[in-house]
Amino acid sequence: MKHFLDINKTEPGDLRGILDEAKRIKSARAGRSKGTLDAETPLKDHIVALIFEKPSTRTRVSFDVGVRQMGGQTLVLSGSEIQLGHGESVGDTAQVLSRYVDLIMIRTFEEASLFELAHHATVPVINGLTNRSHPCQIMADILTFEEHRGPITGKKVVWTGDGNNVCASFLHAAGQLGFNVTVSGPEPLDPEQVFIDEARAKGAQVEIERDVFKAVEGADLIVADTWVSMHDPVSTRERRHNQLRPYQVNDALMEAAGKDALVMHCLPAHREEELTSSVMDGPQSVIFDEAENRLHAQKAIMRWCLK
Ligand code: CP
Ligand code: NVA
Repeated sequence: MKHFLDINKTEPGDLRGILDEAKRIKSARAGRSKGTLDAETPLKDHIVALIFEKPSTRTRVSFDVGVRQMGGQTLVLSGSEIQLGHGESVGDTAQVLSRYVDLIMIRTFEEASLFELAHHATVPVINGLTNRSHPCQIMADILTFEEHRGPITGKKVVWTGDGNNVCASFLHAAGQLGFNVTVSGPEPLDPEQVFIDEARAKGAQVEIERDVFKAVEGADLIVADTWVSMHDPVSTRERRHNQLRPYQVNDALMEAAGKDALVMHCLPAHREEELTSSVMDGPQSVIFDEAENRLHAQKAIMRWCLK
């Protein structure tokens, strides 16, 4: 069973294969209208369950469109509609869903639920974001980076702000694909040490630099994300804003980074908070390419899972 649960749980060769496939899938669709089928329809006669226990725009729409373009059908289920973990165990739900559908994508809170679902499922399971990681996003991000700048291996990625789930998947990818990450944020919001240690053990350089202006020197890519993630208690909002404001990606920071640095944000963005509109809509931003590439990257991930 080939689950796509995390980037550090997927072999580097498989990650490369998925990225190559995503590039191929994207170029094969160039110029075609969105409602047409792909030339190849590997999901014909397949049904994919898309489970969302948290809100989503990109993940929901890009998976749904991707499945349809590959000839399959989707069932989009919200956490409140099904019994996942509410009176029925995740393992039982996994066994039941596996009798009805060919593939499961889930966005949930605790990663333990994802792993339990995958453990009991007899069909592939894809991680569509947990509190601790967001691997599909980072596959799209790497696809985007490489389209603009060539191989990411050896490049310098600067993560600004909260060392959250998206940051964790970047660290996973750094270890697997051999690029370097400088994290710049307040100490209480550093990524978990285990993510840093694992990336370093695999040969990636990971640095923590509190001075964000120093951090971006020589950056190939600067990444921002929301200051308050979906799983963060609302009561922490004000404290987080105060802690994270100095790490805003704005024109002054881009000046320090230089003209060659790309800017990414997985979206949804809070304009004038973690990054300014001038940067988001500016010449170094590849943020909307990133959003588009969710579609192509995830189609490649689904094909890999079902192969
Ligand atoms: N980036 C991302 O996953 O967006 P959604 O939360 O809208 O799916
Ligand atoms: N860190 C954000 C990512 C959203 C796609 C969150 O978890 O809310």
